[in-house]
Amino acid sequence: MSKTYIVGNWKMNLNVGESSLYLHKLLKRLKIARGVEVVIAPTTLALQPLSLQIDRKRLKLAAQNCYYQDFGAYTGETSISSLKGIADYVIIGHSERRNIFKETDKDIRNKVAAALRNNITPILCIGETESEKTFGETEDVLRDQLLGGLSEVSTEDLKKVIIAYEPVWAISSTKGARLASPDDVAASVKIIKDQLKALYGKAADDMPLLYGGSVNPSNAGAYLMIPGINGLLIGGASLIADHFIDIIDVARRVIK
Ligand code: 13P
Repeated sequence: MSKTYIVGNWKMNLNVGESSLYLHKLLKRLKIARGVEVVIAPTTLALQPLSLQIDRKRLKLAAQNCYYQDFGAYTGETSISSLKGIADYVIIGHSERRNIFKETDKDIRNKVAAALRNNITPILCIGETESEKTFGETEDVLRDQLLGGLSEVSTEDLKKVIIAYEPVWAISSTKGARLASPDDVAASVKIIKDQLKALYGKAADDMPLLYGGSVNPSNAGAYLMIPGINGLLIGGASLIADHFIDIIDVARRVIK
């Protein structure tokens, strides 16, 4: 049975003290769930202290970003090699990195390759913006982002990569974004799966694909039941430990 991933991306929220309190609360309530891989992505500063507090049998850590060079004159960056032993996963190419910090497909491809080189699982984010959707460009955008992000990934390494589909127009519905319907997501899942198959053949079948965009405890089940979806990448709702635990419980029920 393939795993179901429940990943909380805290973005630039919760300081070190708040992160530690959150983790304490989570560990008090979180049971080992067979088949569910629970991952939290705190800020870079909180990763190291949380790595000392975490129980890796129940929970894993992800970095929200990294730089692909191992060391050097790159002021303000965090190398992926320095995350070894601390983070198990790294989120790469999030739409906020692409759109606010102007990360290119080349940056993203190098980061994916660096993560694999350092045995940290990359979670490669892809997704179209509102205007790309409106102009009927979704298929091209998803194809280009997959080609761009995966161009250094061999068929052999493909099983070490996770893809997260996050339509930009569906991120942060609490701030006005629209909710993606399961049909919207299913249509993009088909595009992504077809593209991966064209690139990697049968090896693409087992590649985990997550959905992200305004997931909450009430809609998590519907997204998890979409064929081809193997988990969720959650922003806002993951900041409230009770909501995050409710979503983990939904995942447990869905995979039973
Ligand atoms: P929200 O769940 O807040 O919409 O954020 C989604 C996201 O960007 C997770 O990476």
